[in-house]
Amino acid sequence: MTQKKIAFLGASTGVGLATLKTCLAAGHQCIALCRNPAKLGAHFDLDNTPNLVVVQGNAHDIAAVSRCLKASETALVDVVVSTIGGAFVLSKMTLDDPHVCEKGMSVLLSALSRLRKEGVTGRPHVIACSTTGMSRFGRDTPLPVVPFYGVVLKVPHADKRAMEDALAASGEDFIVVRASLLTDGETDREVRVGIEDPVKGVESKAIGYTISREDAGKWVARNLVLRREERYCNKTVTITY
Ligand SMILES: NC(=O)c1ccc[n+]([C@@H]2O[C@H](COP(=O)([O-])OP(=O)(O)OC[C@H]3O[C@@H](n4cnc5c(N)ncnc54)[C@H](OP(=O)(O)O)[C@@H]3O)[C@@H](O)[C@H]2O)c1
Repeated sequence: MTQKKIAFLGASTGVGLATLKTCLAAGHQCIALCRNPAKLGAHFDLDNTPNLVVVQGNAHDIAAVSRCLKASETALVDVVVSTIGGAFVLSKMTLDDPHVCEKGMSVLLSALSRLRKEGVTGRPHVIACSTTGMSRFGRDTPLPVVPFYGVVLKVPHADKRAMEDALAASGEDFIVVRASLLTDGETDREVRVGIEDPVKGVESKAIGYTISREDAGKWVARNLVLRREERYCNKTVTITY
């Protein structure tokens, strides 16, 4: 097995943590940016997990992000997995940081560009976690939840839209993962997959209500990081039960 070098932004909980766990278990070298490393310390023995490097910092800080993107002094990592997201404030129907993903993607793309100008080489595959309810090519959620997505989730969706568009226009190799409503708990349920081309539109549909963070993270790790089918590259991939 060739050991991959994988950078994680937002892996202290949720989908990102599940992706990180699967990649570590498969023996790959992981670098995780974390605002509070103690959160990862609750899941891993950080002193005895040699293939995990934790970088303390914020995904909106270009210096911190750049540290995660370097596999060595001269080479970029092979894959970047960004699962950052804000906390939803129901009383105000917004996020605690309404531009969390947009800013995060802008910083990530700037960091890649700046590192290349400094002579660091490589072309990492950038995987970014988004949400269903965003398609420009028709309904991608079950009919009963359309009003909920359209009204309640306006702010997070605008943030995800800006993130998706910036990544798709960046010229980087990418995959956007749109997860349906996230629940908790690992299961052995089948994950259905839809594929959309950002320009040409729907290639295959998968419309569903939910998927758990753990199952989503495992699916991302197994299908997009550890091995990757060409049909997912530079596409938007919907995952749901
Ligand atoms: N909720 C849903 O039903 C749903 C559905 C589809 C997609 N999504 C999206 O899918 C993604 C993953 O969801 P999730 O529930 O697994 O996420 P989550 O558990 O809320 O985790 C978000 C992660 O982002 C990190 N983060 C946020 N802002 C950051 C910043 N400025 N710098 C560094 N780290 C930052 C958090 O770190 P801390 O631990 O430091 O806070 C945490 O590790 C999110 O983008 C979410 O919006 C959500």
